[in-house]
Amino acid sequence: MNGRPRVLSGIQPSGRLHIGNYLGAIQQWVLGQDAKDNFFCIVDLHAITVPQDPDQLRLQTRQTAAILLAAGIDPKKSTLFVQSHVRAHAEACWILNCLTPLGWLERMTQYKSKAANQETVSTGLLNYPVLMAADILLYDADEVPVGDDQRQHVELTRDIAVRFNHIYGDFFVVPKAVIREEGARVMGLDDPNAKMSKSGPARGHAVGIVDEPDEIRYTLGRAVTDSGREIQFSSAPEKAGVNNLLQIYLLMSGKSAPEVERNFEGRGYGDLKKAVTEVVIESLRPIRERYAQLMQEPDDLDRLLATGAAQARALAEPKVLGLKERVGFVLPTTSDTST
Ligand code: TYM
Repeated sequence: MNGRPRVLSGIQPSGRLHIGNYLGAIQQWVLGQDAKDNFFCIVDLHAITVPQDPDQLRLQTRQTAAILLAAGIDPKKSTLFVQSHVRAHAEACWILNCLTPLGWLERMTQYKSKAANQETVSTGLLNYPVLMAADILLYDADEVPVGDDQRQHVELTRDIAVRFNHIYGDFFVVPKAVIREEGARVMGLDDPNAKMSKSGPARGHAVGIVDEPDEIRYTLGRAVTDSGREIQFSSAPEKAGVNNLLQIYLLMSGKSAPEVERNFEGRGYGDLKKAVTEVVIESLRPIRERYAQLMQEPDDLDRLLATGAAQARALAEPKVLGLKERVGFVLPTTSDTST
């Protein structure tokens, strides 16, 4: 549309959103907003692939919307919507399930690691990446801005699109993942060899986007470093803690890598942690304040999400009808298609 690349990305409304989500995904969504045609989806259908408390899920869905808006997603520039509000996602997922080989899904590393942590594994967890393919392909998205952990899922989306186009003729745009070099994999502050995740230990692992300054001080003050004293970007495993702090500093301060390294020349890890703490607190402060205001007005949030869903349906519904037509379904008469 308008010659701008179409962007679609998603985020699960489960757990507490952290600076890994912010730096890996949300910040690049916000920065790209003007140049792109944007769709951002709060993926509640994905969230229930593992057990959820219903009231918590409802609360976290609104909280996620409020965080995205507070972080700078502008409804005038981007369509922000909840996945389950657009039934085309579930319909397209079913059709795509039927042409996705089981082996492709069993190979997914995120499935394997999540399944290892569950007593019983739902088939939804296995199908998770097919639903993600439906999210992306319904909107003819060119680009999918994500963190590094979603790379394999976007590759699978491409494979599904290519397979469909091969069987039924050209229909889907084959999208590409957009993964920034910095921030693509923010690591746990308690363990810099494990990705920062929503399901990490309660304290000390992640900085939440709307954490209070004292909590941010606690987490960053205890961040694991190493026994050396070099403050430089490095891919060496033993420097993972310092490198992670530098990456966070770089993206939160907007400084370049050489500027960041110069800034810390001759200084110690204590100074580094203090500087990272300050820049993180100051960058997140306006987001936390705006978030608190938005959460006071849940009806406004719901109205905004309803508008987003209507905008999303305007694209997704004709696309899913086209999909049904391609696979040989008799289409319902026009009066039956209203949702
Ligand atoms: P989710 O909800 O786990 O994460 C949302 C976004 O945050 C990124 N991310 C990270 N980036 C850097 N460092 C980290 N430690 C870190 N942790 C998370 C994720 O890569 C993601 O971009 N399957 C997706 C949601 C989804 C989706 C989609 C994404 C559903 N449909 C369609 C794109 C397009 C997920 O679980 O993200």
